[in-house]
Amino acid sequence: MKVVIPGGTGQIGRILDRTLTAEGHDVVLLTRSPRGERQVHWDGRTLGDWIGHVDGSDVVINLAGRSVSCRYTAENLEAMMSSRVESARVVGEAIAEAARPPRVWLQMSTATIYAHRFDAANDEYDGLIGGGEHGVPGYWAYSVEIAKNWEAAQERAATPGTRKVALRAAMVMSPDRGGVFDVLSWLARLGLGGPVAGGEQYVSWIHERDFTRAIRFLIERDDVAGAVNLAAPHPLPQREFMRELRSAWRMPLGLPATGWMAELGAFVIRSDTELLRKSRRVTPGRLTDAGFTFLHPRWGTAAADLTARRRRG
Ligand SMILES: NC(=O)c1ccc[n+]([C@@H]2O[C@H](COP(=O)([O-])OP(=O)(O)OC[C@H]3O[C@@H](n4cnc5c(N)ncnc54)[C@H](OP(=O)(O)O)[C@@H]3O)[C@@H](O)[C@H]2O)c1
Repeated sequence: MKVVIPGGTGQIGRILDRTLTAEGHDVVLLTRSPRGERQVHWDGRTLGDWIGHVDGSDVVINLAGRSVSCRYTAENLEAMMSSRVESARVVGEAIAEAARPPRVWLQMSTATIYAHRFDAANDEYDGLIGGGEHGVPGYWAYSVEIAKNWEAAQERAATPGTRKVALRAAMVMSPDRGGVFDVLSWLARLGLGGPVAGGEQYVSWIHERDFTRAIRFLIERDDVAGAVNLAAPHPLPQREFMRELRSAWRMPLGLPATGWMAELGAFVIRSDTELLRKSRRVTPGRLTDAGFTFLHPRWGTAAADLTARRRRG
């Protein structure tokens, strides 16, 4: 297959690129700063020569968007919104113009679209879309708004020859440097990986191997379109999530962090506490119903696999 990955130079792009390339597929990455012959220039907003790669491709997987690992200032929130909506819009325009459009367009979205909740899990059928929760910071609703507009940009695209899937992905766990597993492991190994703000909030996650297997599954399954949750079937409270991670690293100590400590820590690492404090309880309803099975359904064994691979380098 020829697979075009706009925004493919980041954490998830690297995972998909190495897996699909190892399987013998022809992978092209669209980036604002190309390096090497498989990387092609685009600006994420306007049509250009890059559309020649979309025309005749089999699959487009759009991952582009300003990183969410930053302070949620008004300026950064605006960049998070516009980079996602604009890139999805222009990918849709490129597919609409193609003489030989790809058969499927997988558009990244996020599990953050669902409500902050503890009582039940959100699947695609009767999960609650967020934005109306009480007692949470107002800007959390903006993250939901970004996700909704991101998906709407794909839905609006007039691409009748191309199946469209929105990937409501949870945190993708891989042993790579700089990824979310790396950051959480660093905290755990320093003895700082205890409960944050009580630790009752749920963490949804997916092992990289299940993520890439799910992508392949969605490419092949012509009967699946629309929003699909990419999350392991057993999300767990943050307190247990970090306990399992510490155990995988054989670190007995995990200092707790109160809400204000999390705020301070997030300020120091220039990130935002929504990433730590929002309860993301998301399950893979449609994938499971379509017959997908997970290699790593439970966090304990997934964390053991990731730490072992990380130790081996
Ligand atoms: N990582 C996760 O666990 C996770 C989970 C759920 C959803 N997501 C979403 O999935 C997408 C990919 O995640 P990731 O972790 O690979 O992100 P990442 O490492 O931040 O990579 C995103 C890529 O988007 C491109 N980009 C950044 N700002 C842009 C802009 N203004 N216009 C166009 N392109 C821009 C960058 O490519 P260039 O600089 O090369 O152009 C970058 O490599 C993101 O949208 C993220 O929000 C990630």
